[in-house]
Amino acid sequence: MADYDYDVLVIGAGPGGYVAAIRAAQLGLKTACAESRATLGGTCLNVGCIPSKALLHASELFHEASSGALAKFGVKTAGVELDLAAMHGSRLDAVNGLTGGIEFLFKKNKVDWLKGHAAFTSADTVVIDGKKVRAKNIVIATGSSVTPLPGVTVDNEVVLDSTSALELAAVPKHMVVIGGGVIGLELGSVWKRLGAKVTVVEFLDQILPGMDGEVRKEAAKLFKKQGFEIKTSTKVTKVERSGTSATITIEPAAGGAAETIEADAVLVSIGRRPNTDGLALDKAGLAVNKRGQIETNHDFSTSVRGVWAIGDVIPGPMLAHKAEDEGIAVAENIAGLTGIVNHDLIPSVVYTFPEIAGVGLTEEDATAKGEVKVGKFPMVANSRAKAIKAADGFVKVIADAKTDRVLGVWIIAGPAGTMIGQAAQAMEFGASSEDIAYTCNAHPTHNEAIKEAAMAVLGKPIHA
Ligand code: FAD
Ligand code: NAI
Repeated sequence: MADYDYDVLVIGAGPGGYVAAIRAAQLGLKTACAESRATLGGTCLNVGCIPSKALLHASELFHEASSGALAKFGVKTAGVELDLAAMHGSRLDAVNGLTGGIEFLFKKNKVDWLKGHAAFTSADTVVIDGKKVRAKNIVIATGSSVTPLPGVTVDNEVVLDSTSALELAAVPKHMVVIGGGVIGLELGSVWKRLGAKVTVVEFLDQILPGMDGEVRKEAAKLFKKQGFEIKTSTKVTKVERSGTSATITIEPAAGGAAETIEADAVLVSIGRRPNTDGLALDKAGLAVNKRGQIETNHDFSTSVRGVWAIGDVIPGPMLAHKAEDEGIAVAENIAGLTGIVNHDLIPSVVYTFPEIAGVGLTEEDATAKGEVKVGKFPMVANSRAKAIKAADGFVKVIADAKTDRVLGVWIIAGPAGTMIGQAAQAMEFGASSEDIAYTCNAHPTHNEAIKEAAMAVLGKPIHA
């Protein structure tokens, strides 16, 4: 340690950084974490995963109660009212409880929170609010921020990013969502359920890039059934705000006649980009790649000895659980253990209703690599989904035609995000579709649909 202040200094206290700091401290390393935000937990806990899921849950409850959808279960509702301020209060409760929880965990594990913005002055030294801190190992976990759309100014009143779209004080009449990805569909769902008309403008020919083709098609069908207007292969060329509304000019992605849409809320959700501005990476001898990311080796070390990077700031899916697992792995690697993350098996989930989830390869990617067998099972044939009258979607299992090893699992179902964990675990253990087909699942559960889809790979499921 000699003249080092810390064994490990983590920059950023999101799911990557706070987990890395706690794990490093648990492994006996003297650890600090620099965070410029007023609370710990990063994007995910403050303005991402947690507040969005709090609103998705609350808005679904409101929608079910107010739309008369509960009548089919013999539950009559009348006079249901929205108290948006209380709904926001409940969101903030969830956020405050969880961010406060990280502060407690830091204290419990003796991680020092160094409050302020960190910038490198050399490979082993950063300056935080004028104070120099020297560490033997520095982990960059600075996360990502909203990608701006050139020519479109986010004013956080009418033209929104994901953070201001979580905080609207009134339900918009018409929300135009630019970008049919995860944020657009989740936050679009929130405001749709609370009464807004929602139009999604997507540049590509399908929503939800990166997901299995059949899943993308089915998802679009279900969102349209819910009343979303979805304009694919369409680009936004201008957004002009006037007072409390905006005029959005769109045209076909391939070029053609322009048209305009009027809206009182416009959500810009075209992706996120890594946070490296203001870090003075050059002082550490580091550079970013073409996409602005910090490249790492498989152990999360960078090209500079003693400097490591994890989470949204490095290549790979921008997901909290990926960042967390990398946080554990990097701390273990720094401590001389072997920390590994299997980047081939990071599940992804869209928390709409129904949920949409996948792990492993899409059918398109798997087919490009070799011969595959595909088994599908519709949720309408799953007894639990039928019993609760929410039977949209399907499970799809993709296996190697020769070895039967499962290569990908894709699910659209009410609790797809929970179900996908079973598939991820089976695949992590190298399961074949036969392994899954012969695993006993409790009845009646949604997970039985995974077993039946695996049976469909081998021949025939029982119930379809
Ligand atoms: P971040 O969480 O972005 O944290 C980085 C932290 O570093 C920030 O707090 C920042 O203030 C701090 N920082 C940056 N630079 C400095 C500096 N120089 N000095 C000091 N501090 C600094 N992912 C999921 O898996 N599931 C979800 O349901 C989900 N929902 C989301 C919903 C929304 C609306 C958004 C925007 C994102 C969502 N995500 C979700 C993505 C998830 O939030 C990110 O993948 C995750 O937060 C990345 O973690 P991270 O630790 O890499 O970075
Ligand atoms: P995204 O990458 O999921 O989707 C962006 C969409 O915008 C894409 O479909 C893209 O084709 C489209 N697009 C890009 N430029 C466009 C343009 N000019 N006009 C119209 N469409 C355009 O990005 P999003 O939704 O902003 O989310 C960012 C990241 O946050 C995601 O990649 C995800 O990793 C993370 N996230 C994860 C969640 C989850 O796990 N449930 C929830 C929310 C965010």
